Amino acid sequence: MNHPSFEGQPTIEAPAWVKNRKLVDWVQRVAAMTKPDRIVWCDGSQEEYDRLCAQMVEAGTLKKLNPAKRPNSYLAWSDPSDVARVEDRTFICSQQREDAGPTNNWVAPAEMRSTLGGLFEGAMRGRTMYVVPFSMGPLGSPIAHIGVELSDSPYVVTNMRIMTRMGRKVYDVLGEDGEFVPCVHSVGAPLAAGEKDVPWPCNATKYIVHFPESREIWSYGSGYGGNALLGKKCFALRIASTMGRDEGWLAEHMLILGVTSPEGRKHHVAAAFPSACGKTNFAMLIPPEGLNGWKISTIGDDIAWIKPGKDGRLYAINPEAGYFGVAPGTSEKTNFNAMATLKENVIFTNVALTDDGDVWWEGMTDEPPAHLIDWQGKDWTPAGAKQSGRKAAHPNARFTAPASQCPSIDADWENPAGVAIDAFIFGGRRSTTVPLVTEARNWVEGVYMAATMGSETTAAAAGQQGVVRRDPFAMLPFCGYNMSDYFGHWLKTGERLEQLGAKLPKIFCVNWFRKGADGKFVWPGFGENMRVLSWMVGRVEGSAQGAEHAFGVSPHYEDIDWSGLNFSREQFEQVISVDDAAWRDELALHAELFDTLQHGLPPALTQAKRTLEGKLAA
Ligand code: OXD
Ligand code: MN
Repeated sequence: MNHPSFEGQPTIEAPAWVKNRKLVDWVQRVAAMTKPDRIVWCDGSQEEYDRLCAQMVEAGTLKKLNPAKRPNSYLAWSDPSDVARVEDRTFICSQQREDAGPTNNWVAPAEMRSTLGGLFEGAMRGRTMYVVPFSMGPLGSPIAHIGVELSDSPYVVTNMRIMTRMGRKVYDVLGEDGEFVPCVHSVGAPLAAGEKDVPWPCNATKYIVHFPESREIWSYGSGYGGNALLGKKCFALRIASTMGRDEGWLAEHMLILGVTSPEGRKHHVAAAFPSACGKTNFAMLIPPEGLNGWKISTIGDDIAWIKPGKDGRLYAINPEAGYFGVAPGTSEKTNFNAMATLKENVIFTNVALTDDGDVWWEGMTDEPPAHLIDWQGKDWTPAGAKQSGRKAAHPNARFTAPASQCPSIDADWENPAGVAIDAFIFGGRRSTTVPLVTEARNWVEGVYMAATMGSETTAAAAGQQGVVRRDPFAMLPFCGYNMSDYFGHWLKTGERLEQLGAKLPKIFCVNWFRKGADGKFVWPGFGENMRVLSWMVGRVEGSAQGAEHAFGVSPHYEDIDWSGLNFSREQFEQVISVDDAAWRDELALHAELFDTLQHGLPPALTQAKRTLEGKLAA
C-alpha cells in the first residue's frame, strides 16, 4: 500500500490486544506524518464514550441535554461552513480516469498523494489521533468488512461508536493478518502550542479522497457526516461498490425493510432514494388506518450490502449499526418510530436548543416553542423567524442514534446471513412527470428505470437545492467507479441469478412527491405509502392487477386498498398519469445522460430506451 511520503518514525506503543502488524505499522506511519500530540487506541467501551463526551462538553463542542428530557444525549453545532457533504470536493482517484467515469471528480493518484502529503503533514499537531476499529455489518458475518479510521476528531469517534460496531472485538476478528480498509481523517486544524481550540475545528480546504485500487480513504478539512464518518458513504458505498464490482456483489444506497401481510406472509424490500428523500421514514413506516393488519420492520435506513446466495437469491445486510438521519420534518406524525428511537443516547447536530435543555427542529411539532437558541447559537422566536425566514435547525441537521433503540427493528437485523430480497424500489423527488408507482416488466427495464432516475436536489449536499438532476440508482454521489460499468454490473447480476434458475426480485419505480397546480403535494405520503407497498407485495405474490402503459405496469384506482383514506379517483389520476409530452422531454434528458455516460454504456440500456420510445410513440 502506498502512502504520502513522510519522515521520521516515532515509537508508538500499541496495546497488547492489537495483534495486527500491518495495522500497527500503518498507524505509526500516519502518526509520523500527521504528528499528533497523543494516540488513543479506542476500545469502544461506554466509559470511553462518556469520557470523550465529557471532554467535548468541556471544549464547547457538545452541550449535554437535560437528562430528565433526553437522557445521555448531546447537541453539537458545527461551523456554519461545514454542514453537508461536499460533492465537488469528493474524489475517486483510480489509476485510470475512465474507471472513475464522467460522474466522479478524478485526479491522478500520484498527484493526489502529493497534495494529501502536503495537507496531512503535521495536520494533527496539538491534537489526539484516535484509532477507531470498526466492522461494517455484524461482527464476523460473511457479508461484513472491517475498517480502521484514524481521526483527530472526538466527535467522529463518538458518532462512529453509534453508527458502526466499534471497539476491541474488531481486533479479535481482524487477528494477526486480517484485511481492513484504512481510513485517515483530519479536521485540518493543527494547534500551535498553547493555542485555544474552537468548538468545531475544520478547514476551508476540503478533500474527501478515495483510492479504489488500494481501498484507502483520506478525508481532510471537514468534521461533518458523510465527509468524516468514513464507514458510511466513503467505505460502505464508494469503496464497497468497487469491492462489489470485483467480487460479484452490490453496495447500495438503500433502506431494507420487512413487510408482513395480514395473513402473516413476510417479504423483504430494498429501496433506493436520494439523500433526504424519506428513506428513514419509509424504513420505519407505520401502516395507516384501514391497513392495520400490515406490519413493517426495519433492517436498515440508508445502506444495503447485498450478496448472491447459492440459491440464486440476493441476501442483504445493513452494514451500519445506527441512524444518521435528517431531523427537520421528523415528528411523531411523520415518523413515530424515529421519534421513539431518539428518546435517549443520541447525538444531535445542528438542531435548535430549547429553554429547558431539549432539542427542536422545524416540523417536530405543529407549534414551535416561544423561544429557542438556533443552530448558530442565536436567539430565535417564531415571530422573528417569520420576518427573517431564518430556520431554527439547519435543513441538513441530523440525529445519530443506535438502531437497536428503534421500536420497529426487525428480529433479523443482525442476522449475519442477511435477508432475502423480493423487490427493489427506486424513487426520486419529482414534482411532475413520474407516476406514483410503476413496475418494470423485466430486469433490464428495471435497471433502465433506476439508471435514468431524476431527483430534485436537497440540503444533504452543499450546493443549489430543488434542481432536477439525474441520480442513477440514488448513487450519483456514492458510486466509486464508472457509472456505466455499474449499470453493467447490475445487468450481469440479473443474468447470473437467472442462470441459477432463481426468481429475480421485482423492480419498481416510485414518486411520492408529485405536486398539483396549487404547488402542494397531491399524495399524502408517509404511512400512506403502505398502500403502494401492499400493491407491490400483491404483484410479487402474483395476486394484484395493474394497467400496462409505455413505461411498465401501474395500478388502476381499484387495485389499491383505500380503506381508511379519502383519496379520489381524480387525485389518483394526478399522481399516476403519464403525460406524453412531459415524457418526451424526460426521454430527451435520458438521452443527455446516456451521452455523458456513452463510454462503456451497456447496449441493453440503449436498446431499452429505443423500445420505450417506440411504445410512447405508439
Ligand atoms: C446521508 C446522505 O447522510 O445520504 O445518508 O447524505
Ligand atoms: Mn444516505
